[in-house]
Amino acid sequence: MTVRRRRVAILISGRGSNMAALIEAARAVDYPAEIVLVLSNRPNAAGLAHAEAAGIPARALDHEAFPDRERFDAALDAALRAAGIDLVCLAGFMRIFSAGFVEAWAGRMLNIHPSLLPLFRGTRTHAQALAAGVRLHGCTVHYVVPELDAGPIVAQAAVPVRPGDDAGTLAARVIVQEHRLYPAALALVAGGRARLDGERVVFDATVAGVDGALLSV
Ligand code: GAR
Repeated sequence: MTVRRRRVAILISGRGSNMAALIEAARAVDYPAEIVLVLSNRPNAAGLAHAEAAGIPARALDHEAFPDRERFDAALDAALRAAGIDLVCLAGFMRIFSAGFVEAWAGRMLNIHPSLLPLFRGTRTHAQALAAGVRLHGCTVHYVVPELDAGPIVAQAAVPVRPGDDAGTLAARVIVQEHRLYPAALALVAGGRARLDGERVVFDATVAGVDGALLSV
């Protein structure tokens, strides 16, 4: 049986290294999603050029050109609908949505956050982890809900915090795992092997076999 690949848009604000990891993963013919659109709220985001070079339609929707959050979100929503998007992946998208936008895409929008949620929401997560003295840190892919950096967790990867680490060395260790985790998590969701059940994510029986890909230290 041929399953239709889910049509995915990636939203970025900057470098786009997670976007690049998703694009690379989706090149595999058996990957259950295709990346059909990249949008940035910042016209100078480096990731836009990378997406274009990979042959993916990429465009900026400059939030500063809109009078308020609602009208920016409405333009974003229109662009996503026009492209027939099934799933939205936030990848370093540093802009808060209106509640209406999140509700419109509820259950169809994922985010990657550079900490083991629910620890260390917000920004400067690596500095937060160092200040807290945790020995394990990492990253989380979760469904987006109106509350910032909350929402049902799809997958996490952990890294050690080593003596002598600073925010830079820790970030470098975490981003390697982000690039593994996000493609794995999107594959689970797009392939229907992970799905929302109320406030939790439930997995089908085949997922036990890939536990090792979801947690590595
Ligand atoms: C990533 O570390 C991502 O987890 C983080 O921004 C970085 C974007 O890098 N996202 C957040 O902090 C969202 N709250 P990238 O542009 O190279 O993917």
